[in-house]
Amino acid sequence: MSHAPQSLRPPRTAGVDLAPAVCRAVQRCIDPRCGAEYPIADTLVSCRVCGELLDVAYTWPVSFGKSFEFMAGRGLPSAPLAADRSGVWKFRELLPFFGGVQNIVTIGEGRTILQRADLLAAHLGFEPGRLHLQYEGMNPSGSFKDNGMAAACTHARMVGATVCACASTGNTSAAMAIYASHCGIKAVILIGDGKIAYGKLSQALDYGALTLQVAGDFDACLAKVRLIAEKVPSAGVYLMNSVNPFRLEGQKTVMYRVLEGLQFEVPDWIVVPGGNLGNCSAFGKAFMELLSLGIVNKVPRLAVINAAGASTLDRMYNGLGVRWNGGRYFGDGGKQRVESEYARMDAHNERAGTIASAIEINRPVNLAKALRALEVMRGDGADAGEGVVRSVDDDTIRHYKALVGKYGFGCEPASGASVAGAHMLRQEGLIKPGQTVACVLTGHSLKDPDVTVGYHTGLDTKSNKQPLPTTKPPGEFANPPVKVADDLEAILKAMGVETRGLDLKSIGG
Ligand code: F0G
Repeated sequence: MSHAPQSLRPPRTAGVDLAPAVCRAVQRCIDPRCGAEYPIADTLVSCRVCGELLDVAYTWPVSFGKSFEFMAGRGLPSAPLAADRSGVWKFRELLPFFGGVQNIVTIGEGRTILQRADLLAAHLGFEPGRLHLQYEGMNPSGSFKDNGMAAACTHARMVGATVCACASTGNTSAAMAIYASHCGIKAVILIGDGKIAYGKLSQALDYGALTLQVAGDFDACLAKVRLIAEKVPSAGVYLMNSVNPFRLEGQKTVMYRVLEGLQFEVPDWIVVPGGNLGNCSAFGKAFMELLSLGIVNKVPRLAVINAAGASTLDRMYNGLGVRWNGGRYFGDGGKQRVESEYARMDAHNERAGTIASAIEINRPVNLAKALRALEVMRGDGADAGEGVVRSVDDDTIRHYKALVGKYGFGCEPASGASVAGAHMLRQEGLIKPGQTVACVLTGHSLKDPDVTVGYHTGLDTKSNKQPLPTTKPPGEFANPPVKVADDLEAILKAMGVETRGLDLKSIGG
């Protein structure tokens, strides 16, 4: 089944227009046996023919340049065009579904940095200049989700959506709520009761979203909201979860910015936490397209890091050996193995549980796309293989999150998993000390202060009205506050300042 594609004319930009004349853009089923295509203007969360996920697929003209030159001059705060100031839309020729710059939604997302992390590198046994942190917590709502939401909201506005909805472990809802309020679209959020960090909940409430605390977990919320979007047309819901292929278009730009931060040198490794697996899927698509356009001639190797308490991908990939196999996954028994593993999990009532609530997910909806990304992002040269998947337990997550904080960035627990994973792979010898690694820090540390305060003080942060404990908690980098009297001498002493010989009275102490 095939529908007439919609031709999109890429926008003229403020500077020299190096964009292609016309780019064909469609939505296409990812199962190569199906490959059904739908116009960009359709609102879909799965293929109408076979129910699989959709990609936004482009046919760039042969005249498209083999470099990132098209975005030269963009990205400056002084750029007159808002799209040029966005870290997503400055790459718009690589996500040309939007029809014209007038359609673009932006609140200044993606102005994030690839930070060279030499102190952390030294601590973890990497050579100087090799370990980098892509700090997506610097986005307007404090997580990488803003990249995707800018793209999905652009599409939502193009199709005239008036209500958007998502299930979330917190960050998707915060991002959706801020964009929806910016666009004047009603936002409805489904969150698992007690499953969301307060920093994120506070955002959804503050941005005016209708927030439904469902007596279930993320997977239950996603199943319900998907059902509403697909089967209850009268609800008029535009779904903003990462089954929405336009979300992932925006998230591709995280990889473009990593390349930009490395002066367009391709790193050896990309390490990213895995939850619903939208982010790693978007990264894989970014590199598939860059390769096919000839903008890069090699790809990094992908490492997806699960929380041990939510390690579905790890089990599927390493335990059951499920692979994309050039798309044969759907017909070679791979998908059936996934389905029977889900049935086994249900039969044993196995539910995800981790301190990294952002990635507390049983059934990652983008599993197939993630397998594709793990196949595509296989590295280069003698060290090439296939992407790798690992799991890290909660204590490890806490420890590496604290390390990221100690060396000056800070991140939320799920993001700590990427650095933990990078170190694990370094210790396994898979990552070599001289290889260039970019760990994606997906969310800001202020998203989940309870975990941070709990680590540094030993406080049970579920009831944060208690006085702080006085004993030092066990974490190696625990840095509890020191209690001190309202007294100058006591304060100076606590600071390690010698007070003998000081006339504290004369200075008002
Ligand atoms: N890190 C953070 C901070 C997240 O919020 C998420 C996902 C991930 C990593 C995993 O990314 O799902 O693309 O594999 N959070 C979603 C949410 C599920 O609802 O906010 P993924």
